[in-house]
Amino acid sequence: MIRRSILLGTGSALPVRAVSNAELAQTVDTSDEWIVERTGIRNRHIAGDGETTATLATQAAQEALAAAGLAAQDIDLIILATATPDQTFPAAATKVQAALGIDDCVAFDVAAVCSGFLYALTVADSMIRSGAAQRALVIGSETFSRILDWDDRATCVLFGDGAGAVVLGAQESEDGQRGILAAKLHADGRHNQLLYVDGGPSTTQTVGKLRMKGQEVFRHAVVNLASVLREVMELAKLTPADIDWLVPHQANARILDATARKLKLSPDRVVVTVDRHANTSAASVPLALDVAMRDGRIKPGDLVVLEAMGGGFTWGACVLRV
Ligand SMILES: CC(C)(COP(=O)(O)OP(=O)(O)OC[C@H]1O[C@@H](n2cnc3c(N)ncnc32)[C@H](O)[C@@H]1OP(=O)(O)O)[C@@H](O)C(=O)NCCC(=O)NCCS
Repeated sequence: MIRRSILLGTGSALPVRAVSNAELAQTVDTSDEWIVERTGIRNRHIAGDGETTATLATQAAQEALAAAGLAAQDIDLIILATATPDQTFPAAATKVQAALGIDDCVAFDVAAVCSGFLYALTVADSMIRSGAAQRALVIGSETFSRILDWDDRATCVLFGDGAGAVVLGAQESEDGQRGILAAKLHADGRHNQLLYVDGGPSTTQTVGKLRMKGQEVFRHAVVNLASVLREVMELAKLTPADIDWLVPHQANARILDATARKLKLSPDRVVVTVDRHANTSAASVPLALDVAMRDGRIKPGDLVVLEAMGGGFTWGACVLRV
């Protein structure tokens, strides 16, 4: 028998306030035309008073549990991917655990920035396959609006807030054809200075602001994503022609197009939400997955490939049969 992590449900949450490019252009020296042409972004959500990484994560988790038909107490593992936790410690995952009313389970955060959800999913999958967990909540949740330099037009227009969650459950079968079939992660810490936050508890004792060399990040992203996608498809013994849906990290429409082209994947097989959510970092992949599950594009039996790349650099990909 083969033990795999099966996708049981998805959920997502967005802050109430939506901010269009036109609204942003009232306070930032930019234009709707520039943002759409360079990034494909038209809209983003910005967290307001009382909306935090943990509250958004909790909402997304509740939706995912409802979709899975499970109660919070059925969960024995929560992994929350975030670079913008409510507090330096404890982990935001423990706030979600308390908000969901779970008395005891394993709960921790993963910090891999935009690849955080792929990292969290891979760790949860390993724990499920090893028998250390049975049912896991894997969440990506971010409030990047709180670490943006709103005077830096080259970065502040690119990001938004939100959360996405999935419930994974252990399942044994003869053929092992469903669930997470393969995952591959990478990191290359030499590129710290291309995408980072200029503060932290152990250095400046401040939270800091996001800094990025956009063009260099862009170049690395296209190369690394195409390469890890090939790797993970090989691990799963599949080819890009087998992919029903690519659910990529939503950083920039041009990166999505370039990645799809490299894989010779038709653009109508790529789930795109960057236009409405902007880059929500660790939340972007589970948010996009939830959108495509709920609107019926992704159906049971579909082969779905997830990928992301972010600060570190970190990057990864995962092949999943829904
Ligand atoms: C950020 C990004 C959109 C910038 O696009 P670009 O084509 O590289 O643009 P540049 O940085 O070269 O800037 C071009 C010009 O636009 C200007 N500009 C930058 N931001 C602007 C904005 N929001 N509005 C209007 N003009 C802007 C620059 O000042 C520059 O002007 P100049 O030529 O007079 O100096 C692009 O590099 C990118 O998407 N990079 C990847 C970033 C990313 O996805 N990171 C997250 C990965 S997890």
